[in-house]
Amino acid sequence: MATVGNSTNIFWHECPVNKVDRQKLLNQRGCVVWITGLSGSGKSTLACSLGRELHSRGKLSYVLDGDNLRHGLNKNLGFSAEDRAENIRRVGEVAKLFADAGLICIASLISPYRKDRDACRAMLPDGNFVEVFMNTPLEVCEQRDAKGLYKLARAGKIKGFTGIDDPYEPPLNCEIELRTLNGICPTPSEMAGQVASYLGDRGFLHYTE
Ligand SMILES: Nc1ncnc2c1ncn2[C@@H]1O[C@H](COP(=O)(O)OP(=O)(O)OP(=O)(O)O)[C@@H](O)[C@H]1O
Ligand SMILES: [Mg+2]
Repeated sequence: MATVGNSTNIFWHECPVNKVDRQKLLNQRGCVVWITGLSGSGKSTLACSLGRELHSRGKLSYVLDGDNLRHGLNKNLGFSAEDRAENIRRVGEVAKLFADAGLICIASLISPYRKDRDACRAMLPDGNFVEVFMNTPLEVCEQRDAKGLYKLARAGKIKGFTGIDDPYEPPLNCEIELRTLNGICPTPSEMAGQVASYLGDRGFLHYTE
């Protein structure tokens, strides 16, 4: 009897077309670009900018954005530590499927807990999880307050808001760190270019045997 998680009598069904076949078809390598950072740090902006950059280079990508996924797949989850963990686990699993499909999957979520991000990293082969830390200072995020959420959190109207009354654990060994330099934040397209260069240098933007 095969037991997987809470399921029994489960068997893996192998399909004749595999990841390598799909990568050859697309002339790229599937991977996950995982963008983490505070609310307002610019994750969604970078995700879209990177998606556009890759599209213009003829590379297939797909953005899994935290807020968008909470409209569907994750709409039954809240913001408790358990729900945040389950939110990240599901996105990690979906990202893994997209990478297996041969796509460059761009996941943009606050994903505040190191343990949850590391669990997603562990789902993928070495080197295929590219963690990008949007290291934008809290003051800058709060000043931007694009959604008005920091104001509500400061007023105590939202509980458990990352950076205010819930922790954000910065990555210890991320592949790319994007930070504000001397108070100047690089433009989204500059940051997207940096991530795209990283992917190019690591061979994700072509398929060679
Ligand atoms: N590189 C940048 N330079 C200046 N402003 C930026 C930059 N990137 C994003 N912004 C602005 O910051 C605000 C927040 O950006 P964005 O929505 O991408 O953040 P986020 O990290 O996705 O936040 P959340 O976790 O709440 O979804 C937006 O108003 C956006 O226009
Ligand atoms: Mg966002």
